[in-house]
This record gives sequence, structure tokens and C-alpha cells, in this order.
Amino acid sequence: MVCRVVVLVSGTGTLLQSLLESGAEPGAGFQVVAVGSERADAFGLERAERAGVPSFVVPMLADRAEWDRRLAAAVAQCRPDLIVSAGFMKLVGPAFLARFGGRFINSHPALLPSFPGMHGVRDALAAGVKVSGTTIFMVDEGVDTGHILAQRAVDVLPDDTEATLHERIKVVERELLVQVVNELAKESNV
Ligand code: GRF
Repeated sequence: MVCRVVVLVSGTGTLLQSLLESGAEPGAGFQVVAVGSERADAFGLERAERAGVPSFVVPMLADRAEWDRRLAAAVAQCRPDLIVSAGFMKLVGPAFLARFGGRFINSHPALLPSFPGMHGVRDALAAGVKVSGTTIFMVDEGVDTGHILAQRAVDVLPDDTEATLHERIKVVERELLVQVVNELAKESNV
């Protein structure tokens, strides 16, 4: 059986695109069965549509716990084996983790545990590190604190800006995310 993957996105969705393409290859061990977002204007939703993959939007609510329950319910409807946060810029809460903890992974554009949070690339540059990179980890209740599954380093160049460094990290991030999803799909053996 092919591992059913739901991908959550907030933005342009280039990581999602890599997963859509890899999962659509003949003999792939996983398939992206749905894409979710909290933003109706996330370009990732258009990528899903182009790939013929269903999508859903759960807009953020003032009542964060209610939003968390609705997100968990929307994801559960897709019967996922694995959920991937690929540039999903919201933290999920207890209801989501109670349901999907241990099979919800995230990708971060820095070498955790250094530079967690929303500005990992900017913070790494500001600290003057010569090497940064990307981390794929299992999401827990903390901010980018979960069990690390894989990491890859990227050199910081002397003239790097946040944008140029982030773009080079994302090249590596796309490859690593696809690799980790393939490995987890094999392990889950669903
Ligand atoms: C990635 O670097 C991810 O780690 C970060 O946002 C970026 C998403 O890029 N949280 P994209 O929207 O998939 O192009």
C-alpha cells in the first residue's frame, strides 16, 4: 500500500511541489492525497489543483483551540498516514498533536536546535555563522523542538542576504524532505 501524505502549506509551496512530483512518479512509495492551508491565497493550493490533488482551507480563528480542532478534523478526513508541514507558518495545538503526534513532520531552514522560530535564516545570518542548513523533524508541542530526523548543511557565503541564503537552503531542503518522506513511507510499510 502507498503511504497517504497530507501536506500543509502557507506560501509558495516549492517544497510541496517536490513532494507532488516525487509522489507521482511510477512506483512511488507515497502519494500526496491532499493539501491544506490556513490561507485561501496560498500559491501551494494552486499547485495542488494543477496536480489534480484535492485541497482544503481552514482559516485561522480568534479561538485558536477551535481552529486546531477544525484543522485536525479536516486532516483526519483525508485518512493520512503522514502529515508534512512544508512552509506551514502556524503552530498546531493539543488537539492536532493528540491525533497526529508521531506522524507529523516539519522542515526548518536552519540547523536546529540553533535558530528555531519564524526567522531561522535571518537569525543565522545575524549570528555570523559560516554554515547553516536545513532540519527535518517530528513536530512536538514546542517551537521547532521535536526529534530530529535529518539535517543537511549549507555554506553561508560572504555576500549572502536572507533571500539568497534561503533560496540555496531550499534547494537542499526539497531534496532532503523528499528523502525523509520516502524513508518514513517505507518504515510505516502501510
Ligand atoms: C521553507 O524554507 C520552510 O522551511 C520554511 O518556509 C519555506 C517554504 O518554502 N518554513 P516554500 O513555500 O515551500 O517554497
